[in-house]
Amino acid sequence: MTRRRRIYEGKAKVLFEGPEPGTLVQYFKDDASAFNNQKKGVITGKGVLNNRISEYLMSRLSEIGVPTHFVRRLNMREQLVREVEIIPIELVVRNVAAGSLSKRFGIPEGTPLPRSIIEYYFKSDELNDPMVSEEHITAFGWAAPPDLDDMVALSLRVNDYLSGLFLGIGLKLIDFKLEFGRLWENDEMRIVLADEISPDNCRLWDVKTNEKLDKDRFRQDLGKVEEAYQEVARRLGILPEGGPSDVKGPKTLQ
Ligand code: TMP
Repeated sequence: MTRRRRIYEGKAKVLFEGPEPGTLVQYFKDDASAFNNQKKGVITGKGVLNNRISEYLMSRLSEIGVPTHFVRRLNMREQLVREVEIIPIELVVRNVAAGSLSKRFGIPEGTPLPRSIIEYYFKSDELNDPMVSEEHITAFGWAAPPDLDDMVALSLRVNDYLSGLFLGIGLKLIDFKLEFGRLWENDEMRIVLADEISPDNCRLWDVKTNEKLDKDRFRQDLGKVEEAYQEVARRLGILPEGGPSDVKGPKTLQ
C-alpha cells in the first residue's frame, strides 16, 4: 500500500487522504464483525467483492439521479469517494421481517411487512448504536428536518430501485442499512449517499429457496460465507476474473 495519511479506520474499511482536496480513498478490508464487535473474523476476498458490488450499485443509483459520494473504483480494494460530513445516523429500510426487528417484536423471520419500514440508529459504538426517533435526531441536532426528509426520500428511492434490481437476479432485498453525508459545493449543501452498499449491510435471500446470501451467514455461523458474497457478485455479472483473490498491492486502473 502506498504511504498516505490515514484519516479513519473502521471495522470493515479504512479511509485515506485522496489525491485531490475534497476526496478520500476508501479501502475495503476482509475483516468482518458483528454484534457490536463481539464477534470478529475474516471473510477472505470480501473486501475485493464489496468494492466491486458497491461500485456497481452506487453507479446504477447515480444513473437514476441518486447523489452518492462514489467517484470511481481505483483498484481491487480501493475506490475514490468525495469527502463528506457523515451524518451520525444509520437508516435501515425493511421490507421483510428479519434480524433485530423479528427479535424485538416476535415476528417470524421472512414475514413480509405491510409496508416498507424505516428505522434510525444513532452511530455510537460505546452506546451500541441505539435505535432513535426523528425527535431525537432533530432535537439533538444530528440532522435538520429537511436533511432527514431528503434521507428518507432517497432511501425509499434506493429501496424501490434495488428491490427491482435484485429481484431481476433472483434475490429478495429483505432489508438494508444506508449512511448519508453532507457534501458542500460552494455555499450549497447536498445530502448524498455515503459508505457502501454490499452484502455486509443488506440482507439478500434467494427468491426460490430463501437461502441467505449476505453477512447473516457470518453472524449465524451458517458456513459458505465467502461463497455467498461471490454468488451475489456473480449474479450481478461483476465477479472479478480469476475470483476474488487479491492482487499484490493496489493496481490503478487508468
Ligand atoms: P438488524 O436487523 O440487525 O437491525 O439489521 C438491519 C439491516 O441493517 C441488515 O441488513 C444489516 C444492516 N446493519 C448494518 O449494516 N450495520 C449494523 O450495525 C446493523 C445493526 C445492521
